[in-house]
Amino acid sequence: MTRNTELAARAARVIPGGVNSGLRRMPWPIAIASAHGAHFTDADGTEYLDYHAAFGPVLLGHNHPRVNAAVRAVTGCLDITGIGVTEGEVELAETIQRHVPSAERVLLTNTGNEATFAALRLARAVTGRTKIIKFQGTYHGWHDAVAMNVLSPPEKLGRHDPLTSGMAPGIVEQTIVLPFNDIEAVDGAVQHHGEQIAAMIVETIPHNMGCVPPRPGFLHALRDICTRHGIVLIFDEVITGFRHGIGGYQKIAGVTPDLSTFAKAMANGYPIAAIVGRADMMDRFGPGGGVFFAGTYNGHPVGVAAALATIAELEDGSVHRHCFALAERLAAGLRQIAHDLGIPLTVAQFGSIFTPYFLDGPVERYDDLLANHTARDLYFRRAMCERGIFMLPVALKRSHVSAAHTNADIDRTLETARDVLRAMPA
Ligand SMILES: Cc1ncc(COP(=O)(O)O)c(C=O)c1O
Repeated sequence: MTRNTELAARAARVIPGGVNSGLRRMPWPIAIASAHGAHFTDADGTEYLDYHAAFGPVLLGHNHPRVNAAVRAVTGCLDITGIGVTEGEVELAETIQRHVPSAERVLLTNTGNEATFAALRLARAVTGRTKIIKFQGTYHGWHDAVAMNVLSPPEKLGRHDPLTSGMAPGIVEQTIVLPFNDIEAVDGAVQHHGEQIAAMIVETIPHNMGCVPPRPGFLHALRDICTRHGIVLIFDEVITGFRHGIGGYQKIAGVTPDLSTFAKAMANGYPIAAIVGRADMMDRFGPGGGVFFAGTYNGHPVGVAAALATIAELEDGSVHRHCFALAERLAAGLRQIAHDLGIPLTVAQFGSIFTPYFLDGPVERYDDLLANHTARDLYFRRAMCERGIFMLPVALKRSHVSAAHTNADIDRTLETARDVLRAMPA
């Protein structure tokens, strides 16, 4: 029995499903022993070039020495006391405020889930309304208001498609699900439900269906509709924040939401998240504002130190330039290989994120992805993994380039992809 098999078997006996987060379950037994730079190594010593990046946090590369040093330094003198504030929390809030256009105020928590939950609660509190709008194909966490309509089967489109049983129907019913990039659909829903809509929550680039950039003007139009109808616009930048730019995608797009949420790449893998936004709204979380916000581990020194060290690495722009250039070369290379071999492939890429879709483009909304050739998608990912290049073996999922990836890694990835695609059964 290999060490991977043994650990997976032990895990399955004590941990439901053998993993601590649903999508970590792999089609083969795997346990992770170490991770450095652009690589991780499993319990049997097999090394993988990592494009999964733990679903997105790892932007500088695994186990980044300066981020780790900052964490070691803070743990030498501080843990948690549960009162007041630390210098690190103040510094981090000021740093985020300096970089992120919507961040007049900043609150820290630990996960993207908590941040989106708090943002929606605040939106309901400030508007006195209950309904929210989300988009088909986006993910904002597992809480009842949003845990629905991500990678839905075709028969579930146009109605609620909950991710789980056990959700409160009364909450699910308050969520309106609309197609991304379809401003007429948004307009129609707002006309129809008018004064009942508290918030519109959107991934600025819906990376939970790979990489589907907004049409030119789409985010501006959402901003305009929300302003006209008194709806709180929430940009969920849990993936895009810090990864695509230090000011989030909102800075790139030139659209400022009322509230935004950040996590993942903000601290290169250490747990921390932020909800930021307009002072008049965010101050409702303060004394006399009537909106409750709490968490034993909020603003934990480890996450704060890691976030400050990570953001410092991003400040001169070289990390983004490096990752973006490599991802562009990788996407262009994959397109060329598919073209040479006559395989229908649309490689979507923005910044350090890319997704090969096995279809003829363009991809603008979730319905377009129903044409994806799932068997080819899974074959490609699995064959890449078998050759030591880890792209999550789940159809439509995004891949990430980090600052630790090199041009030689991209060359190796493209050579391997050519072999895999050439051998792919018709
Ligand atoms: C866009 C987005 N929002 C929120 C979340 C939830 O974040 P977390 O898993 O840190 O709770 C995720 C997680 O993947 C996400 O992709």
